[in-house]
Amino acid sequence: MRKPIIAGNWKMNKTISDAIELVNGLKRNLYKIEDVDIVVCPPSTVLSDTAEVLMDSNIHLGGQNIFWEEKGAFTGEVSAVFLKDLGCRYVIVGHSERRQYFGETNEGVNKKTKTALRTGLFPIVCVGEKLNERESGKTFDVIKDHVTNGLKDINGKEILNCVVAYEPVWAIGTGKTATPQQAEEVHKFIRGLLLEMYSKEISSSIRLQYGGSVTPENISSLMEMPDIDGALVGGASLKVDSFSEIVRKSSEVKKRCTYS
Ligand code: PGA
Repeated sequence: MRKPIIAGNWKMNKTISDAIELVNGLKRNLYKIEDVDIVVCPPSTVLSDTAEVLMDSNIHLGGQNIFWEEKGAFTGEVSAVFLKDLGCRYVIVGHSERRQYFGETNEGVNKKTKTALRTGLFPIVCVGEKLNERESGKTFDVIKDHVTNGLKDINGKEILNCVVAYEPVWAIGTGKTATPQQAEEVHKFIRGLLLEMYSKEISSSIRLQYGGSVTPENISSLMEMPDIDGALVGGASLKVDSFSEIVRKSSEVKKRCTYS
């Protein structure tokens, strides 16, 4: 049974005082939840302060990006080693906004994923098609390209420490969620790719998240899908109540659904 994982991607939001208020609220609301891995990914400027609040809590910390080198003359970049040092457990890699605005490629995503794994961070590797790609029937080609190249040469032991997040670009920040059926179709396809790349045992152990306009209203129907193991949440992770509700509902759904 895969443990659900709900991660909040705060993107470029929250000052130190706002961040502290948010994680304090989450801690208060969610301390009883044990059957969901809860992760918040604040901007790196507030990681240290949020880490202090979350110490000894059931909420894990993650970064939003890393560079593939561990140290050196790379002005403005953040090292996986620094994130680990701050107490991060996860890191988002290859988010579509990184691909779109900062020119990230599958090759870069692959290097970053390997660096994260080497450092002992769990990468959340994002994949997803754009609207024009979906409309021209290329969804599965794009996903195959992102998955096979993004995870290239990652061995069967390492891959178990990765989470794959399917985030259709057209659903991110647009209020247009993929239907549970659309999301499940791609999740199932990703699991099939992982089966080809690894083994039945491995592909059925890897957690797959959906991301793109997830809210307290739509989370349950997404989590009811057999291949959706969690969510990567943007906008709705910025408020205590909405993120708490998403975590609580995920826990409820997975308690009543058993698939095998
Ligand atoms: P959204 O963002 O929930 O605001 O659509 C999701 C993401 O970008 O991870």
